[in-house]
Amino acid sequence: MRVVVTGAAGGIGRAITARFIGDGARAFLVDLDPSVEETAAQLGSRADGVAGWVASDVSCAPDVDAAADRALACLGGIDVVVNCAGIGGPASSAATMDPGDFRRVVEVNLVGTFLWSRAGARQMLGQETGGAIVNIASLFGQQGAVGAAAYGASKAGVSLLTQSMARELGPHGIRVNAVAPGHIATEMHWDELRARAARAGTSFEEERVKVLGEVPLGRHGTGADVAAVVAWLASDDAAYVTGQTIGVNGGVLGS
Ligand SMILES: NC(=O)c1ccc[n+]([C@@H]2O[C@H](COP(=O)([O-])OP(=O)(O)OC[C@H]3O[C@@H](n4cnc5c(N)ncnc54)[C@H](O)[C@@H]3O)[C@@H](O)[C@H]2O)c1
Repeated sequence: MRVVVTGAAGGIGRAITARFIGDGARAFLVDLDPSVEETAAQLGSRADGVAGWVASDVSCAPDVDAAADRALACLGGIDVVVNCAGIGGPASSAATMDPGDFRRVVEVNLVGTFLWSRAGARQMLGQETGGAIVNIASLFGQQGAVGAAAYGASKAGVSLLTQSMARELGPHGIRVNAVAPGHIATEMHWDELRARAARAGTSFEEERVKVLGEVPLGRHGTGADVAAVVAWLASDDAAYVTGQTIGVNGGVLGS
């Protein structure tokens, strides 16, 4: 299996990449952060399945096209694209939010997912071998939350992009699904808790405990929890699953 993972430098994207490599796939890593080179080196050599990497912005169409060419050269084809690159964006309320900040969140989270899905779909259509696209949406794209207007809107868009592309690409054997993580223990989530604490005049620890109280399974999720579902969606075990957004949230209700 030849896999491209965006947002692969750290957090959930790194865990997804590690999972695919562990399962015997070959992976190409994409991230805006130049530390993607270090992550690739830590995950292994070409013999271990790390086919290559590129520091590239998912929101910039020419950069995505160039990165996709590089991925193709390294992998020899693309069977799976995982769109994991994302940003949390401003924690300010919509009433006071700068339009440029709102646009940037949509550009990275939604347009970036579209651009890499498009690049992957084009390649898969040319190969005529089918394939899978897995997008990382969010619990906050399933229910509104204070301070999450831009982020939630962008992630809800990811879920509907997923459904539409699943319908368009299904006849070609290309499945498109999304995973909507809940509270996953990464820097992005800790940043969100710091922002909540600053808004509410509470402490980080108080916000952490409050979040745990909302999770029926009683713990934060891990990148590995998300990676397991992504790996399943990319596999033949999910051969009859497309157009879905699957919550990985410890039981917190989405819509
Ligand atoms: N952590 C959570 O609780 C949680 C919950 C729901 C959804 N998510 C989603 O999971 C994904 C991964 O999040 P994470 O928690 O691992 O956060 P993270 O910040 O650790 O990872 C995000 C990665 O995306 C990269 N990135 C950001 N902008 C980019 C761009 N323009 N081009 C290319 N790469 C870019 C970052 O450099 C980073 O490596 C994101 O899409 C996020 O929205 C996370």
